[in-house]
Formats: sequence, C-alpha cells, structure tokens
Amino acid sequence: MAEIWGVQVFRNKQKEYILDHWNAIETQPATTLTSLFEENPDRVAQFSHEQSGIYFDFSKTHLEKGLLENFLKLAEDKGLADQIEALMTGVAINISEERAAEHTAERGIGAETSVENARLLKNRMQGLVQAIEAGVLGDIEHIIHLGIGGSALGPELLLEALKIGDEKYETAAISNIDGSALEPVLERFDAHKTLLVVASKSFTTAETFLNARSVIEWMTEQGVSDPFGKIIALTAMPEKAVEWGIDESRILPFSETVGGRYSLWSSIGFSVALTLGMEVFDDLLAGAAEMDQHFKDTSFDQNIPVIAAFCDQYYSQVRNCETRAVFAYDERLKLLPDYLQQLEMESNGKSVMADGKPLDRHSSPIVWGGVGTDAQHAVFQLLHQGTHLVPVEFLAVIEPGHLLAEEHHHGLLLNCFAQGAALMTGKKSDDPNRNYPGDRPSVTLLLDDLDGKTLGALIAFYEHRTFANAVLLGINPYDQFGVELGKEMTNALLADDGNQMDPSTEILKNRAFPA
Ligand code: F6P
Repeated sequence: MAEIWGVQVFRNKQKEYILDHWNAIETQPATTLTSLFEENPDRVAQFSHEQSGIYFDFSKTHLEKGLLENFLKLAEDKGLADQIEALMTGVAINISEERAAEHTAERGIGAETSVENARLLKNRMQGLVQAIEAGVLGDIEHIIHLGIGGSALGPELLLEALKIGDEKYETAAISNIDGSALEPVLERFDAHKTLLVVASKSFTTAETFLNARSVIEWMTEQGVSDPFGKIIALTAMPEKAVEWGIDESRILPFSETVGGRYSLWSSIGFSVALTLGMEVFDDLLAGAAEMDQHFKDTSFDQNIPVIAAFCDQYYSQVRNCETRAVFAYDERLKLLPDYLQQLEMESNGKSVMADGKPLDRHSSPIVWGGVGTDAQHAVFQLLHQGTHLVPVEFLAVIEPGHLLAEEHHHGLLLNCFAQGAALMTGKKSDDPNRNYPGDRPSVTLLLDDLDGKTLGALIAFYEHRTFANAVLLGINPYDQFGVELGKEMTNALLADDGNQMDPSTEILKNRAFPA
C-alpha cells in the first residue's frame, strides 16, 4: 500500500500541506463565467483541447489560471503522476482485491506479459469471429448477448452507436431478469439461427444465468438439437464455463485484472466484433490507446481527463453540486449516460478511501442525462432556472448519422450550442418568472465523426477521468462492495427459509406472493 497509495502513507507528514491546497481551492473567490470571458480574450484557446478527433471545450466552466494552479498542486500532492504510472504498468492498485486494473493492457499499454496475454486472447476471439463467419456453427442470423452491468452496458453502447444498418447479424443485448426484456426477442428470433453469447466476468451472476436457461429452454422447445453447441462464453472464469457445459473451444477468457465496467475492450466485446466487424473493434482499441498515451504522457495542465476531473472536483467539493448531467445531442449515443452511470458511480460512489479511512468529501456525483433535443423539452427547465446547480456536459458529432435533410443536423447541433450559451449568459428580467440567472457551467465535447476510433478515445477519456477523480479523492475506483448486500438479501428472500426481514419487506413479499 505504501508505494501505491503513497499519499495515504505519507499522510501525517503531508496532511496540512494537502489541506492547504483544498483550502486554497475552496476559498478562491468565485468569478462569473461571463466575467472570465471578459477578462481573458484567449479563454477559449486556453481552455479547449483536441485529441483523437474530439474537441473538448472547458471554457464555459469556472476553471481559470489560479484554480488550475491549485488543482495542479493538489494533483502533485496526491501523487497522480505516480498513480497513472502504476495504473499503466500493472501495479496492483486495486488494493482491496489485491490486483491490478489492466484495461489499458487490452489496448496495448501495460505490463509486457499482460499486453501479450491480451493480444493472444484477442487473436483467439478473432479466430472465433472468423470461424462463425465461415459457418462453423451453422447458419447464424441472430445473436442474443446476455450479460449485465459491465458485461452489457459497454457492448450495448457500442452496438447502438456504431451500427449502420446493413449488419449480417441482428444482435439483441439483454440484461434484465424481467422476462419482458427477453420475451419479445425470443418471439422475433429464429432459434435455429441464433447464437447465444453469455457474458459474465464472474460467471455467476444470477440474472444472466436465469436468462441463459430461458434461452436454452426456448431453443430446446424449438427443436434445436444441441443448444449448448450454440453458446459462446465470455468470462474471466473459464473453468466455471466448462463446468456449466460449454466446450472449451467456445470460451473466450479475459484477465481477472480487467474490471467488469472496464471490460468492453476484452472478449466481452465479442458480440460487437462479430456484429460490427473485427476492424471496427480494432479501431476502438486504437482510439482508446491514443487517449491512454495522452493521459500517460501529457502534462497535467494540458491533460484532458485530468482537467475534466479538476472541473468535477471543483463543482462537487466547492459548489456542492450533487449531480452532473450528460446530454448527447446524437441519438446514436443515447446509451452513453447509462454507461457513464455505472463507470463513474460504481467506481467512485464510496465513502471510504483506499486506506480504509472515511472519505471526508463528496464522492462521485450522481450522473444522469439523456439526449438532445428531447431533454430540452423535459428537464432543461430545472437546469436553466432551478435551485440546483448542475454542471452539464454536452456531446455532439459534426458528421450526421443519417441521410435526411441537412436541417435536422444543423438544428440539432445549434440547439446544443444554444443551451450551453443560455446556461452561461442567462437573461435578466424584472419579471422573476422570466429571469434566467445564468453563470451555469457546461463542457462541450464535439466529435468530428462517430466511428470506432473516436468512440474508443471517448470512452477511454471517461475511464481516465474517473481514475483521476478517484486519485484526487483517495478512493480505490476498482472495487464495488456496495452492490453485494443487495445480492445477499435477494438470495435470502429467494431461499424463503423462514427467516424474517423487516415488517415492510415482509408485507411486500406476502402481497406479491400470498402463501
Ligand atoms: O453487481 C455488480 C457487478 O458485479 C458489476 O460490477 C459487473 O459489471 C456486473 O455485476 C456483472 O458481473 P459479471 O460480469 O460477473 O456477470
């Protein structure tokens, strides 16, 4: 622990010093966004960055020279550079589970053996993709990808964002235990032409296996002679997949050191590679690797994930913002808020630090969002005039994803830009109902195009921003013990062994399932 979370170890020596930097950040007099623009004609140039086909505009946040300097000192005190080095060289930074967090090794950056291992496993995946394309598993038209959390949200986001409509396979990703999610897919798909992909890092998750059993039952009922012969398993526990009845040749393992919510780059991306093609998958990895290099090699005053984390910490700790909203002005990215919710909230929604001590600041903000322009007609009232200050993140893509008249895309993008401007400048009125206070921050990410490479870089940006936030807070972002109690209690209810829960829960259970 000493070398990994060095700041924790040197805490006694450096505590006052670190508090000084938080103190300087917290006590810095606030300047309005419009004044920041008036005072600094170069503000846009100074607070915008470009990387891998994405333009990041932080100029409509309250970040300015003094604040940035204090955050840079805080980052230094927190050992951020060493932590990034540790992350990218395979040090066991996930100290509660005593393992490394090696998602970057999937992209070619990490400990030599892990990079090589990831490369070999990717080759294996590619081999299976090619074999299926060559018809080894018969005529496949439909793919059911079963998984939940990190084993579903990433693949679903990628499939939705990058599909172009002429794919050879129709792929449905199902996660929920609710049969209403799976049933319509079974009604639509041809069991004889369906490939079942079971994605589970632990190969134990209840929802995934109930769904898998239902799909196997459906295949059997439909007369598929060997349903297990049509199953692919994606897991870090290949021995469990063998035990469950899957032939070793159809198991695609990945390393246990790749966290669930960081796993879309591993064999968990198999359904993506099969549906969209191996080239698209390779582009994703290449785009992510570019962002990895940027995060690893760029000084913090120009480092995009780090600057984003400074903004996050400023709004969270200094302005007490409890949420951050993400609006994708592109239907193709409609699943991004869901994906980010798991990435950020499961990683940093904690109240203990990596050293086990209580966290004395706000942890991850609640991440929420939607798509523009729909959200403008639903939730933007609160953003413009409500009592909560909500930092907003806008995403838009310059190249449209459709062939309809230009007005659609033109209108979409200009709506996006107008919202950021309106939040910032506001509009004074003597009529309080029509007064817009303004000074509400936003960040805009403008993508040149939505392709594999850019999306890979975008997702890696979010991963590294989450890590930078974790380091500034002293949190280990790579475990998730908070979800275990709910699983335990579900199992206790399912066991129905006579043990009583609280009266409210007992009544709910008895109403739903009378004896
Ligand atoms: O319950 C939370 C969680 O463990 C996530 O962290 C994970 O992404 C998800 O469940 C699914 O887990 P698995 O891939 O092991 O089925």
